[in-house]
Amino acid sequence: MRCVVTGGAGFIGSNLALELERLRNQVIVIDTFLKGNRKNLEGFKGEIIEGDESKLSDIKEKIDVIFHLGAITDTTITNKEEMFRNNVDDFKLVLDFCKKNNCKLIYASSAAIYGDGESPMKEDDEPRSLNAYAESKLEMEKMAKQAFKGNTLVGLRYFNVFGPREHFKGKMASMIYKLARQMRAGKNPRIFKYGEQKRDHVYVKDVVKATIKALTYPDFGVFNVGTGKATSFNEIIKFLNEALGTSYEPEYFDNPYKRAYQDLTMADMSKSEKNLGFKAEYTVKEGIKDYINWLNNTGWYGE
Ligand SMILES: NC(=O)c1ccc[n+]([C@@H]2O[C@H](COP(=O)([O-])OP(=O)(O)OC[C@H]3O[C@@H](n4cnc5c(N)ncnc54)[C@H](O)[C@@H]3O)[C@@H](O)[C@H]2O)c1
Repeated sequence: MRCVVTGGAGFIGSNLALELERLRNQVIVIDTFLKGNRKNLEGFKGEIIEGDESKLSDIKEKIDVIFHLGAITDTTITNKEEMFRNNVDDFKLVLDFCKKNNCKLIYASSAAIYGDGESPMKEDDEPRSLNAYAESKLEMEKMAKQAFKGNTLVGLRYFNVFGPREHFKGKMASMIYKLARQMRAGKNPRIFKYGEQKRDHVYVKDVVKATIKALTYPDFGVFNVGTGKATSFNEIIKFLNEALGTSYEPEYFDNPYKRAYQDLTMADMSKSEKNLGFKAEYTVKEGIKDYINWLNNTGWYGE
């Protein structure tokens, strides 16, 4: 299979590009390098194109599938115009390319669409976007639905992804990575009072698996990608202590984002299980153990 991975130098995109290549596919990466870094693609043998989706028109080979992950992923950006110019306008170029070249399209949506909605979160729940990022993802889903012409077109609502190669996301890296770094540096991990907020943390290896599995879905669809379980930040610190061999106590501080903060996010995974045959293999505890091993071996704590 010949595939394009947009955002392929970013966190999830680089894990996906490397795995697709390991599975003997031909892979082309397109990335603006707004956040991504070539270091994420060490060992990658395919072509790397620097730029946005307008670069798709430079590709002369027949493409079978586009995995579209390129996006501004900073949820704190309030400039909707900037967000939409990048996330929505560039998605239109991807949809046009897929229509013209009859290729499959798997694109990254987000659990951010659910906002502070009820858990477990189901794909047909009413969206409750809390920021410009979530609004851009919702708009993408609408555009995808309109553009559907019969070939695989799948949106994936990733939940809280963590794992190797997220270092270059900076402040947008997962809480698991940020807490691991604090603890590695000998500090108490800092979390909002009183650490009982829960998230559906999903390991990037499972996310890559789900993204590749989506190719088998022959239709239009939107699916959750999580574990179907929610884990509190207090529990995360416990798992990190176990993996790091430490015994740090959490340090609690006031949550400054009270209005737009989700206390609980958890995916309902029944639609993905039924239609994509996807079920996360890693529990959060196992994912953290695997990730800490990787961080210890590569030294990617970034301090
Ligand atoms: N990490 C998560 O927990 C999570 C959760 C939900 C959804 N997602 C979605 O998954 C995708 C990947 O996220 P990530 O966590 O790897 O973030 P990331 O910021 O590491 O990766 C995004 C990459 O896209 C690049 N990029 C930005 N705009 C681009 C454009 N127009 N064309 C090509 N490249 C562009 C950036 O340089 C970056 O390398 C994004 O679409 C994001 O919205 C991620």
